[in-house]
Amino acid sequence: MTATARTVVIRQHGGPEVMMLEDRPLGEPGPGEVRIRHHAVGLNFIDVYQRSGLYAMPLPAALGQEGAGIVEAVGEGVTHLKAGDRAAYGGGPSGAYAEARVMPAGAVVPLPEGIAFEDAAAIMLKGLTVQFLFRRTVPIASGDTVLLHAAAGGVGLLACQWARSEGIRVIAVAGGPEKCARALEHGAIHAIDTRAVPDIAAEVRRLTGGRGVDVVMDGVGRDTFEASLDSLRPLGMMISFGNASGKVPPVDLMALASRGSLKITRPTLFTHIADPEACRAMAADLFGKVVAGEVTAQVGQRFRLDEVAEAHRALEARETTGSTVLIP
Ligand SMILES: NC(=O)c1ccc[n+]([C@@H]2O[C@H](COP(=O)([O-])OP(=O)(O)OC[C@H]3O[C@@H](n4cnc5c(N)ncnc54)[C@H](OP(=O)(O)O)[C@@H]3O)[C@@H](O)[C@H]2O)c1
Repeated sequence: MTATARTVVIRQHGGPEVMMLEDRPLGEPGPGEVRIRHHAVGLNFIDVYQRSGLYAMPLPAALGQEGAGIVEAVGEGVTHLKAGDRAAYGGGPSGAYAEARVMPAGAVVPLPEGIAFEDAAAIMLKGLTVQFLFRRTVPIASGDTVLLHAAAGGVGLLACQWARSEGIRVIAVAGGPEKCARALEHGAIHAIDTRAVPDIAAEVRRLTGGRGVDVVMDGVGRDTFEASLDSLRPLGMMISFGNASGKVPPVDLMALASRGSLKITRPTLFTHIADPEACRAMAADLFGKVVAGEVTAQVGQRFRLDEVAEAHRALEARETTGSTVLIP
């Protein structure tokens, strides 16, 4: 009998209701692949973009980019993992919303004993994102000031902690007093509540004595883009890394000149982890922070795999804080 795994599949783009649980054949890993049985799966905003069609996918498609569990089998040529290893990943082809899967081994890394599966599922994609934002995008030094949007979200709470551990000053932006309090607890030095403060850039100028911030990390996108540019000091760096509120419209380069020779980048984690060696080095950096207690996973919500539609609805409705994990 062929082994199968319950897997979340979409046959059309749309709302949370298009996600269906199906039994899919598992098969054996081919060359360069592993089969992993998930103990926990991470939910990410990119899953919403892929489900809705903002990032269109060939259909039918399995969803999910982040998971942790036990390696069951490895294909020819895989040397960094073996059957029985604890392992985790954040990226690779989608298909993590499943009890088990076969996938390319490149983005799968051995998981240190001290990191629980749920915590790994909460930090892999989001923590590697934080790693590339702080380490691989633009030099950011102790004492620099970063404006961080969605600071109480999955990426956000990890970024607040990472910054604190490096002496980087985060001005957090979040929706509501509870989320602002969470960002402050996790290391932000100021928090701006978007529900109470209509002009984010003016507040940033006030908090920075008129200077502006060195770097903006903006995963919200369309709704915050202009305020982000207006918050930067001359020669500052705009990192636009997400679109939770919608895609940023085309940018007029003169908007960068007139605000003082600003720089801008639109990075993706997948470029950074495309090289397996780089991916493992980034994971080692992240795990080092976790094992040292400088960055801790923040699992704000847990859902069963068959509750995935409810999990997506909560994420899109801005009801979540920290990371959300699905338990297969
Ligand atoms: N470039 C990359 O490689 C990469 C990798 C990982 C994540 N990302 C991006 O980073 C961002 C955060 O990802 P995440 O998974 O950690 O999600 P998240 O931050 O946990 O959730 C998204 C948050 O965005 C804020 N938000 C503002 N306007 C929104 C709107 N109109 N609809 C929904 N949310 C809105 C909400 O926080 P408030 O209520 O506080 O406003 C919400 O909680 C996403 O844009 C994601 O695509 C990019």
